[in-house]
Amino acid sequence: MNTRSEDILKKVWLISALFLGLLPAFASTPAQADEEGTPAWSRQEASQIERTDDNTAPYISQEEIDQMAPNHWVWDTWPLRNRDGSVATVKGYKVIFALTAPDDVLPGKRHDMATIRYFYSKNGQDWKMGGEAFDTTDAYGSRQWAGSAMVEDDGSIHLFYTATGRKGNEQLTYEQRLALANGEMEVTKDGIEFSDWSHDIILTPDGEYYQTEAQSEGGILYSFRDPWFFEDKHTGETYITFEGNSAGQASDQVCQPRNIGDESFQQTHEAPDGSAEFNGNVGLAVSKSEDLTEWEALPPVLEADCVNQQLERPHFVMKGNQYYLFVDSHKFTFAPGIQGPDGLYGFTADSLYGNYEPLNGSGLVVANPEDNPFQAYSWIVLPNGKVISFINFVELGDVSLVDVGSQPESFQYEHFGGTLAPTLKLKINKNQTQIIKELDDGRIK
Ligand code: FRU
Repeated sequence: MNTRSEDILKKVWLISALFLGLLPAFASTPAQADEEGTPAWSRQEASQIERTDDNTAPYISQEEIDQMAPNHWVWDTWPLRNRDGSVATVKGYKVIFALTAPDDVLPGKRHDMATIRYFYSKNGQDWKMGGEAFDTTDAYGSRQWAGSAMVEDDGSIHLFYTATGRKGNEQLTYEQRLALANGEMEVTKDGIEFSDWSHDIILTPDGEYYQTEAQSEGGILYSFRDPWFFEDKHTGETYITFEGNSAGQASDQVCQPRNIGDESFQQTHEAPDGSAEFNGNVGLAVSKSEDLTEWEALPPVLEADCVNQQLERPHFVMKGNQYYLFVDSHKFTFAPGIQGPDGLYGFTADSLYGNYEPLNGSGLVVANPEDNPFQAYSWIVLPNGKVISFINFVELGDVSLVDVGSQPESFQYEHFGGTLAPTLKLKINKNQTQIIKELDDGRIK
């Protein structure tokens, strides 16, 4: 059957399924989302953030750190997945991609020279470093930031990444564009190899849904990054979700009633000055071509205006008809008057443009322990409920994440993990979650 007939059949099936009530009716479409305003993570909800036994990760000590990659820091990591979102096994191998940098670089400087490397493993736990995913001279950006990866049945691979800065820039810039590398993957007797890469820029901020760097007016941390591929079995469409900021000039931003909370909360709560400058959102774009090189930006699915500046590495996990949207965020990116730890936050809705409700009431799903608040970061929830992340700065005492860079260099090296953290197992039950187990470092199986 050719792809066109498959597409028609898929559409006929979706329409009949909708009529027969096999699928949830979608309350919201991108157009409605546009009109009604993006669902908000409100100050009222975020005010309930609290560490509990169910959301606090076990302590990671300095002695536990066991660097997985020879001579390299490893941080943001993503597994190679199939089109349906499941973690791929290709001829017996699991593959992960990760941001890496030489480990003689100060941990805080690693972002400026991030390179995507791949690792492979037969047991989904002991990872062998394979090398750079592609020749970075052919890639967009002066460095490449986080992304996602999907392999087709025929071995062709789509590696989405953030092109940060531009090659040839005299000074380091923080321009961010979403990019795609299409290539081929081969399993040889010696491991895994990639070839035939071609690179495209697939999305830049439009200033209408997603803030441009110019609109951000040089304010707090700007984002347009971390493309995460997923196919939605309910809409039949192929999307990327990504980290953005709500569009508009930074100085014109205001807190809308929905950003504050319900009517009674609005009456008693005043957002402190400067809150409106915090405007993180979760973006969405839909694929317009089979090779995934053409995309159309859609309205964001969630905003944290007046709550948090950065909803990092957004990704979806489907459970039945329920959409689970997860993001990572830092203590220091919460708006004035809201306190939340470095952690994994989650939301759920019954449609892609649904009315996202924060998991556990506040959104907090995994928090670093209070006495080791920066021990891990960049959590990703896999379809089997396993949560991977990397070891960030451990046992900092009174030093906070934003002050680490001004400590003696030896202190910075000693306290940084730069390797995968112990995997956590998360139980998800409707709108409640619980960390139920800690597993070995970097285990995805
Ligand atoms: C989160 C993050 C990502 C980005 C990467 C850059 O850990 O900020 O959003 O892609 O780090 O190093």
